[in-house]
This record gives sequence, C-alpha cells and structure tokens, in this order.
Amino acid sequence: MNTFDPRIAVFACNWSSFNDDQDDCNSYGPVVRTMCSSRVEPAFVLKAFASGADGVMIICCNLGDCHYKRGNYKTNRRMELLKKVLEQFGIASERLKIQWLPGEKNSDMCMAVESFANYIGWLGPFEG
Ligand code: FES
Repeated sequence: MNTFDPRIAVFACNWSSFNDDQDDCNSYGPVVRTMCSSRVEPAFVLKAFASGADGVMIICCNLGDCHYKRGNYKTNRRMELLKKVLEQFGIASERLKIQWLPGEKNSDMCMAVESFANYIGWLGPFEG
C-alpha cells in the first residue's frame, strides 16, 4: 500500500503504444511524447528528478521495431549508463525504468505507468 502519491515523469515514443487517449496515464505527472525514445537525453531524466519526480519511465518500441532502426538500442545503452551515474549520486537506479511496448494501439501504456507508479510507491519518495 502506497503511503504517498508518487510523481512519475513519462517519456513515451509516439510509435510505441502511445495513444491520444493518454489522459488516464498522466495522473502521476507529465507524459511527454517523443518521436523516438532516442530523443530522450539523459539530461531530461536528470531534470525530471531535479524537478521533483520520484520516478522516470521511458516507453520505447520493442527492440527491432524502432522506426529509426537502432534508436531504442541507443536509448537502452544510454540509460543503462545513466543508471550507473544515478547510483553514484545516491539515486536508486530502479527509479529509472525503460519499458518496451509494441506499437499496437491497444497495448496498455497506462497499465505500465500504473505498475511503475505502484513500485515507486513501495520504494518511497525520492528525496534528492
Ligand atoms: Fe519508437 Fe524509436 S521509434 S523507439
């Protein structure tokens, strides 16, 4: 059971399961649409934490399905490195999640955000 309402910043690839009916997904914080997950700079993630996010989720197309061929592989490499940097600064790397979702319109981005928010709720607030 959550003892607080986690604030989650979501960066979602337009070609993944992002849908225009994402109002239900943003009850935890902003949902930012990107044209590829590779557009998400590590600085954006750091800025989200600095702005009060308890967790950051990056929603990507499944590996092999990126419209720009290898964009999501690049995202994966970058964010795995960023997790190591976060740990160096005392930020649990679990607060940054990469979520792979297929491009079908009916795949549930909101359910993934909800699940991550529940996990962050269990982890506790980020006190950076
Ligand atoms: Fe979706 Fe690149 S187009 S991750």
